[in-house]
This record gives sequence, structure tokens and C-alpha cells, in this order.
Amino acid sequence: MIKASDLSWDDVVRVGPGTPGGKYLRSFWWPVALSEEVKDIPAPVNILGEELVLFRDLSGRLALLDRHCAHRRASLEYGRIEEQGIRCAYHGWYYDRQGAILDRPAEPIKTTSSIRQNWYPVRELGGFIFAHLGPDKESPPPLPRYDVLVGDGYRVAERGDAEAGKAYNCNWLQGVENTTDTTHLAFLHGIVDGCPAFKAVEGDYGVKIFILAPGSRPNTVRVRRRCTVLPTINRKSREPKGKDPDGLRAAVQQAIWIVPIDDTCCEEMRLTVYSEPPKDKRYHGVYRDRAKQKERKPYDRRLYGDITGIVPLEDKAMVESQGAIVDRTLEHPGYGDRAILLLRKMIREGVADVANGHRPKGVLQEESPTIDLDIGFDEYEIDKLPAEMRDLLADVQRQSSN
Ligand code: FES
Ligand SMILES: [Fe+2]
Repeated sequence: MIKASDLSWDDVVRVGPGTPGGKYLRSFWWPVALSEEVKDIPAPVNILGEELVLFRDLSGRLALLDRHCAHRRASLEYGRIEEQGIRCAYHGWYYDRQGAILDRPAEPIKTTSSIRQNWYPVRELGGFIFAHLGPDKESPPPLPRYDVLVGDGYRVAERGDAEAGKAYNCNWLQGVENTTDTTHLAFLHGIVDGCPAFKAVEGDYGVKIFILAPGSRPNTVRVRRRCTVLPTINRKSREPKGKDPDGLRAAVQQAIWIVPIDDTCCEEMRLTVYSEPPKDKRYHGVYRDRAKQKERKPYDRRLYGDITGIVPLEDKAMVESQGAIVDRTLEHPGYGDRAILLLRKMIREGVADVANGHRPKGVLQEESPTIDLDIGFDEYEIDKLPAEMRDLLADVQRQSSN
């Protein structure tokens, strides 16, 4: 029996097959590509320290195989897509969607069952291709149909873009801690006034965060509900009239997966659902342009130069500067970090659960048509504020008198 407290940080954050953290992360479905990226040619996929190739066969069915050919390791990203699978470009070994060998042109015996290319199950939903890299390939757990993936609206699926600051050269947990961190919104980004009053509670799917602020009328409180869905999804919404660099005025629902590529790289997969089609679909287009326009002082030796005002780059610079894998034994987290401390506790418990042969929190047992993560905004009269948030009223009142 392994206890969460027995795990080192290295046990938790490393992603490779066979590591405790890697086994935990392999309990979940991951977005590995945008649907629009998988057309008539193979797509290389790097995830959880594995090199894979994703394609649709000529009948349109998806497949995800190990990238390096079992024959002599050439990459199947250059392979030829055929009726039932993919043929290696080097000597023509032909694999079906589950890695069985259908043909080996240079061999007298064309097929063999003694060699098999590793494969993983894949599903398509909400503009993404999801894969499950766990051991139970034939019957993986159900793919969670989170509200944003199946709800109405104008959906934009995007991949992290290093230039726009949404792919990080550091461990995945630093990325998730950053998206869970509400206190940096005021200081690093300056997009809210003062450190907002917030509460982090353990929910069915992850860390639920309630952010409270004075309401629009006297004696009212605004409550913003967001969630870090285990293990790495930042699920939030934006107000219809929020401050927005793109000048968008539509209500927005969003889910951002931090996808671990290997121990020291991760990338965002981002789904934005607009209530109406936005004028500019490039959510980070403005930031990218702004970064290009910045002039660098000739004596500025900092890696990213002046990051101020480029929100995604501000995040990237902070999480990468913590170190490729931050040494958490040297930190001094406090009251403002309570959401992150709760996230760490839940992830450590999940890693221990998997190590003990149990299903971790967030992995579904049964199919569900949709999972409502209860994200959004509400304004309450102070005396009608839900009981679980009342202990924050003093913080909100302090905020409004500042
Ligand atoms: S390396 Fe793939 S067929 Fe030879
Ligand atoms: Fe941020």
C-alpha cells in the first residue's frame, strides 16, 4: 500500500511509462491533435514521453501507433496511408490500425503475429482527437464529455503556440499550477484589481475555485466559478463585457488542457466556445503581434526580454523560470497558494490511488452524455450568498473598502 505522503515530487511529476506519475497520467484521455490537423497525411504526436503517429486510414478511421517502425525504426510520419492502415515509407511494412502486420514486401513470409506495433485507442470529440495511453487498450474508461466539448456555441479549437507563449519548456505541473493560481492575475497580469477573495474546494472532478468580488449594486457579491479539472484542465468562462484585448464582446466558455509532452515540455490545447462567432478567431493574435513590436534594449540579457503586457508570455516566463522541474522543497507557499496546495494534494492522492491499483478521481466509470462542470458567474444579494462562501464575506468587504 503506497501512501500519497510516501511519494517524492519526482515520483509525481515524471511522465514516462512505468513511473508512478506516468501511470497516473495514463489513466486519463488526452487531446493529442486538433481534428483539422488529421487529414490525408500522418501527424506526429509527442505525448507523455512517447513518440507516436496519428492518421486516418482511407476509410476515415483514426489510428494512433508508435512512430518508429518495428522493422528498422524509420518514422511512420512519412508512411503511406492505405485502406486498412499505414505502410512504412522505407521498406513497406504495412500495419493495420491496431499495429498488426499485414505485409512485409521483402520477406518470404509476408505477415507475422510475433511482431506488433504498439497502438492506442483514439476518439474524436469537440474539435480534438483524444487518445488513451493506459494499459487497457480494448476497453479504456469512457471519454469524459465535458460541457464545453458537447454544448452549443461557436467552437474554436487551438493548439499551444510557442511564439504566443502557450507551449512551455518546463514540467506540466508548473503549467497547471499557473492556471490554478488566481493571485497572479492581479500582480503578474494586472487584469484584476487587488488580490481577489477566493475559496478552493475539492469537487467531484478537481479543484473548484470561487472568486468573489463586490457586485454591481450595493449589498451584492459577484461569484465567479472556475475549476481545475484533474489532472490538467483549466475550465473557466469570461463575462460578456469583460476587458478583452481582441475587443471581443461575446460570452466565452473555455477549457485549456496542459498536455505533458515529456518531463520538461508541455503544451496547451485550448477550446474556446463563443456564444456568437467572434470577429477575430485568433485568441492570441493580438498578443503575438504585440510581442513582435516590442523593441529590445541592447543590454537586455533576459531570455524573453520585456514581457510586460503580453499575458501568455508573462505566464511562460514565470513557469519556465521556476526551473525545468521546479524544486518544490525550496518553496515557501502561503495562504494565497491554497488552491495550488489543494491541487497538489489531489494529484498526489491520484498518483497513490493508481499505484495501489485503484481508479483515481476524475476517471469515469460509466459513460455520461455530458458532464456539467458548473462554470460561470452569478451575482447574489449578500444575505443570499451560498453558505459555503459566506466565510469569504469579510475578505470581499475589505476589498471593496480598499
Ligand atoms: S524501417 Fe520500416 S519497413 Fe523498414
Ligand atoms: Fe496567467
